[in-house]
Amino acid sequence: MRELHVLFLQAEPMGPHLSLAHMTSDGSKSYESEIPQFGLGVFLANGPDCKQAVRWALDAGYRHIDTARAYDNEKQVGEAILESEIERSEIFVTSKLRRFHAVGYDETIHRCKESLENLGLEYLDLFLVHAPPKDPYHRKPTWQGMEKCLETGLVRAIGVSNYGAHHLDHMRSYARYLPSVNQFEVHPWLQRPGLRAATEAIGAIPEAYSPLARGKKLDDPMLASIAKKIGASPAQVAIKWCLDQGCITIPKSTNKNRIEENLAALNLDISPVMAEISSLEENFVSGWDPTAEP
Ligand code: A2P
Repeated sequence: MRELHVLFLQAEPMGPHLSLAHMTSDGSKSYESEIPQFGLGVFLANGPDCKQAVRWALDAGYRHIDTARAYDNEKQVGEAILESEIERSEIFVTSKLRRFHAVGYDETIHRCKESLENLGLEYLDLFLVHAPPKDPYHRKPTWQGMEKCLETGLVRAIGVSNYGAHHLDHMRSYARYLPSVNQFEVHPWLQRPGLRAATEAIGAIPEAYSPLARGKKLDDPMLASIAKKIGASPAQVAIKWCLDQGCITIPKSTNKNRIEENLAALNLDISPVMAEISSLEENFVSGWDPTAEP
């Protein structure tokens, strides 16, 4: 474990930032901002565990927290941020419009305000449509509601999650501002070069959720052997692979040591084993996959 210890010492607290922007029909960029490329996911982190995890993460140097109305923990995220006494402007907060709330213009704005109230914040740094609305007729008015949230300053950036390439393409017909982010499952066992390229083609950044495949692949012997070669942990290799693909990356953990271990992945050099990591692809979906829906 000596090598891991070295990685911890070298970790930079915040890591790199990426530029967020919304492409308009004439190809220009609107509502530009910056996002820390690395952050903490809190899916399945409930109540006190969530609050504690966010506190540990902020203490360790994380400055980006990704929550959602559907996770039922916005309140705990907000409390942890408040109690950290870190300036609001230094922390990047994402939340998401729940899928069954994505039914129209007014509803979207109303739910955005509810998320802000739950979090105790005056604005969100990023607000995402959690998945393509089930009813295709709801997609346009929902996105128009998101655009209103952007224009009125409730949120600094808007985006989508779990959108497939065809969903993104369709947005060109109705979006005044295209999404700045598309968040979907990405990791070495589900690399999705096509969806990442489609995301970038609309001017958005791919964001990797479940970069650890929900922990379901961390005992993969191939991964263990790759990790050993560069003196890192399996989780660090998977996280750094996502970061090196240019993805915003938000591993979830509620364990203090693992929260710190994951942050330390930022300083890892995986170039000597990149080809081996790429060979892990097996189209493994650890959660749900609405990107394939009509
Ligand atoms: P825990 O919260 O107990 O740390 P993903 O981000 O891909 O959805 O993965 C989350 C899962 O991976 C959770 O079960 C989490 O458990 C586990 N996990 C997070 N970080 C690590 C790590 N460094 N080593 C092993 N398991 C981890």
